[in-house]
Amino acid sequence: MFKDSQIYVAGHTGLLGSALVRKLKAKGYKNLITRTHDQLDLTDRRSVEDFFCSQKPEYVFLAAGKVGGILSNKTYPADYLHTNIAMQDNVFQAARKAQVKNLVFYGSSCSYPKESLQPVKEEYLLTGPIEQTSQAYATAKISGIIACRVYNEQYQTNCFIALIPASMYGPGDNYDLENSHVLSALIRRFHEAKVNNIPDITLWGSGKPQREFIFSEDVAEASIFAINNVDSMENHHYNIGTGIDYTIKNLARKIADTVGYKGNIFWDTNKSDGTLQKLLDSSKFMSLGWMPKIDLDEGLQTTYQIWQEERGK
Ligand SMILES: NC(=O)c1ccc[n+]([C@@H]2O[C@H](COP(=O)([O-])OP(=O)(O)OC[C@H]3O[C@@H](n4cnc5c(N)ncnc54)[C@H](OP(=O)(O)O)[C@@H]3O)[C@@H](O)[C@H]2O)c1
Repeated sequence: MFKDSQIYVAGHTGLLGSALVRKLKAKGYKNLITRTHDQLDLTDRRSVEDFFCSQKPEYVFLAAGKVGGILSNKTYPADYLHTNIAMQDNVFQAARKAQVKNLVFYGSSCSYPKESLQPVKEEYLLTGPIEQTSQAYATAKISGIIACRVYNEQYQTNCFIALIPASMYGPGDNYDLENSHVLSALIRRFHEAKVNNIPDITLWGSGKPQREFIFSEDVAEASIFAINNVDSMENHHYNIGTGIDYTIKNLARKIADTVGYKGNIFWDTNKSDGTLQKLLDSSKFMSLGWMPKIDLDEGLQTTYQIWQEERGK
């Protein structure tokens, strides 16, 4: 990518999209194209085609998607399946017709088998049953990952890049208690417990499951790195993680410290724990020369500080 390339960041108001815009601007990329959901509904094929025809983006980061927590995934599985597949399909087709040079698509670690060997290697995709609660979302993501590979094969290009990030967090995350991921939900719960002087918090499960978290700006860096190093990449998806996982207990302690919550933390072991470990093997992508830069402590500090600023404290 050149500094004056036309770069479309789809989903620029979201967690990853906003990180991409910040990173691209900081690196001096000048011609960023963005559209809000209201301005361009990516599930509307005609509008997407017209947009690509008129704007002629050279590079695309497809950070738009329907993303949510367990409850939302369980309640609206058809929406997760349809919306994500429609967006991907429309954007891939339009990008191909408009001769986009590179497009980065984001898959999800929940597309890997639920009982996978750890750490999870790229080749474990489609080797076993996936988690039931997010099956619809994960299936849409699998179709996007496969689409990248087969578009490249059929059209003899290396345009389409599929990255599978670990669980992301950072500025602009979703803090809705019904719809958020574990890390942002914990930030909100500990913050509210602190300001309301609640002496103890009870969290679900034993706290023993281990999870990997990556700062959104590290994924943005990885995405830009991928486009700029596409000639060294093979035609398959790549995991993007830190290689470090934390128990939920450890994560909760770190968040309590970041937020300044001094109360007690209890664990409701009557609630199920879910998968015991989810850790990506990101060595293939790291071997190309990319490394994450922000550790969990620093990322949590930044995330909490920006969330407070956004809420007006
Ligand atoms: N968050 C994670 O931990 C994680 C991990 C792995 C992969 N991913 C993938 O990374 C991508 C970005 O995730 P994220 O967490 O940044 O999501 P996010 O914060 O929910 O942002 C999604 C973005 O997509 C936009 N959008 C949704 N539906 C749209 C539509 N029909 N037309 C146009 N824009 C639409 C949203 O706009 P509105 O808000 O206005 O609807 C928002 O800007 C997704 O593909 C996700 O599956 C995320």
